Amino acid sequence: MTTATDGRFTGTGVLVTGAASGIGRRIGERFAAEGARVVCLDRVVPHATDHLACAVVADVGDESSVAAAFDDAAATVGGLSVVVHCAGIHHLAPLTATSVEAWQRVNDVNALGTFLVTRAAGAHMIARGDGGRVVNIASMAAKQGGAHEAAYAASKAAVVALSRVAALEWGPHGITVNAVCPGYVPTEMGADSRTEEDVRRWSSLSPLGRLGTPDDVAGLVLFLASAEGAYLTGQALNVTGGMAMH
Ligand SMILES: NC(=O)c1ccc[n+]([C@@H]2O[C@H](COP(=O)([O-])OP(=O)(O)OC[C@H]3O[C@@H](n4cnc5c(N)ncnc54)[C@H](O)[C@@H]3O)[C@@H](O)[C@H]2O)c1
Repeated sequence: MTTATDGRFTGTGVLVTGAASGIGRRIGERFAAEGARVVCLDRVVPHATDHLACAVVADVGDESSVAAAFDDAAATVGGLSVVVHCAGIHHLAPLTATSVEAWQRVNDVNALGTFLVTRAAGAHMIARGDGGRVVNIASMAAKQGGAHEAAYAASKAAVVALSRVAALEWGPHGITVNAVCPGYVPTEMGADSRTEEDVRRWSSLSPLGRLGTPDDVAGLVLFLASAEGAYLTGQALNVTGGMAMH
């Protein structure tokens, strides 16, 4: 049995954005179960906080909030070795019906938010001088688009591109930066428009015949943050049950 005091991440400072719900919450729980000191950065206060060292309320699209949140987080856990950026929002609309307002709202969280969080993570890790791991949650949509996902798919392509830039610049500092591209994971995101027929249709796109779970994504994120992930950087790794293969 794994306890909170043994595991791959014992004593490691880990910040997870979007950790109040869905995939991010599971990532935070899994790091904590392997001994990490986990900080949740989210725009809302998480319901469950037992596994957290602290919860910081901040908007990832706001420069000064992100800076203050990193200061708080680093002070609480004594330095961050791992940053997982999972906060994101979705928007579903035909391309011709996608407004500038919707485009900006989605990109402010998903693209600008990734820029601000990744930049803060790199600055913090370079100043510490002890390397680090950054994992940004993108989407299968970054690679193959998605009908009615114009703003979302474009924002997630930005996540992949930015992760590659950071990997190139920060490799000499011993910092790896990767993007993770999930397929369909039933969470709060999209729950208001998801039907049983959607679930059946999407499941059939996977050779494994099912949708993903937050644990499927968390397993890959923890691998990338662990010693076993040391030689992966600048990658955009699919966790889609084979729906995407490139
Ligand atoms: N669920 C899927 O099918 C799926 C597929 C591919 C990629 N993803 C990505 O995975 C990530 C997590 O999604 P999820 O399914 O767990 O969704 P979710 O809605 O359950 O969780 C998203 C979290 O991000 C937080 N958040 C949103 N905007 C924020 C902001 N401006 N500042 C701080 N926090 C903010 C929310 O409060 C929430 O806790 C997202 O980046 C999403 O795009 C999800």
